Amino acid sequence: MSYVIKCFECGAEIGNEMLDACPGCGGLLNVEMDLSRMRGRAPSDLCTRPMGVWRYAPFLPVPAEKAVTIQEGGTPLYDCRALAKELGLARLHVKYEGANPTGSFKDRGMTVGVSKAVQLGCKVVGCASTGNTSASLAAYAAKAGLGCVVLLPSGKVALGKLAQAMFYGAKVISIDGNFDDALNVVRQLAREGHLYLLNSINPFRPEGQKTIAFEILDQLELEVPDAIVLPVGNAANIWAVYKGLTEWRELGWIDRMPRLIGVQATGSNPISAAFKAGKEDFVPVDHPETVATAIRIGNPASGRKALKAIYETKGLATEVTDEEILAAQRLLGKREGVGVEPASAASVAGVVRLRQEGLVSRDEKVVCICTGNLLKDPDTVIKNAGQVLRAGASLDEVKRLVLG
Ligand code: F0G
Repeated sequence: MSYVIKCFECGAEIGNEMLDACPGCGGLLNVEMDLSRMRGRAPSDLCTRPMGVWRYAPFLPVPAEKAVTIQEGGTPLYDCRALAKELGLARLHVKYEGANPTGSFKDRGMTVGVSKAVQLGCKVVGCASTGNTSASLAAYAAKAGLGCVVLLPSGKVALGKLAQAMFYGAKVISIDGNFDDALNVVRQLAREGHLYLLNSINPFRPEGQKTIAFEILDQLELEVPDAIVLPVGNAANIWAVYKGLTEWRELGWIDRMPRLIGVQATGSNPISAAFKAGKEDFVPVDHPETVATAIRIGNPASGRKALKAIYETKGLATEVTDEEILAAQRLLGKREGVGVEPASAASVAGVVRLRQEGLVSRDEKVVCICTGNLLKDPDTVIKNAGQVLRAGASLDEVKRLVLG
């Protein structure tokens, strides 16, 4: 469980666990775990704990005894046979992160991040968010008895997420600006010492999120899929999944890496555009827009890490329109009974498009990570689902509608 924090850009070792960037070059930070104690062991050695984030405690930078937990992780991996058939794929699994305690994958990062905050003696935690991060942080801060401040882009946060952040008692501040603006402000608040930053640039957050990869491998009994597909917003989760896979590869627990495929919305596509241009860096999008508000981000803080994860796995990045996202959301619900929010459906929409373009082939075994629950964004569902029928409270009127 020992580790070092290093700068992702210049490699400098960072002694201060409160930082969110390298004091030398301003680069992103990365936790490097010392895995020597796991060498010669096997994934089955981890089975002493139930499925969930803390089952993988030897890979986490906080001891399990100190965990602030509400039993995150351990989410289902659905074998979506009807959808696979429809898309012309050998196998399609959906890792349903909507089953986490606050309804998104963010809980995996927050259990580790908030545990670290407590360990460091912080009293107030904070984040900028398109919604899910704030919902999750508010819940874990409540559990830990910490103060919590969340900055949200005005008018662009789905109702369920806003309700959660308010309900768990966070100080909710609506910013006249987008997520990128809110992140800039909250980073400054953290630098001035007013709060401990728990956005995914906090290097401990991806450590929790990498357990998505461990669980997928465990649930597939260590059969490595050909591709793992996920939505990309602020771009840390794809890095987290890459990191998890790399750690098991280094231990020889898997013998190859899946392709990592990042999917963005056309109106918020800096990573997809960079990939298409063959670049290792990206140009921010000034006015990001998409129905998938969770990934409405123009300047992804972990964009360079995401591109590395994509290139190193010979993966790719693509983009899908809002219409494609909503169609994929409906398809997943209709064929498999799985309800996900629009950003999550971007992964399925990406597979639909890549099958059409021939960039994912018929014989591939694909896992889509569906990052958040349908109920996060009821407004979008109601706007795009069918209509509610109305009738008086009489058998005749209702019967006419039932039989009609
Ligand atoms: N899917 C959902 C449902 C999300 O909420 C997010 C990010 C992503 C995908 C993208 O993950 O940022 O690691 O690339 N939501 C953040 C938030 C930005 O504030 O809740 P990423």
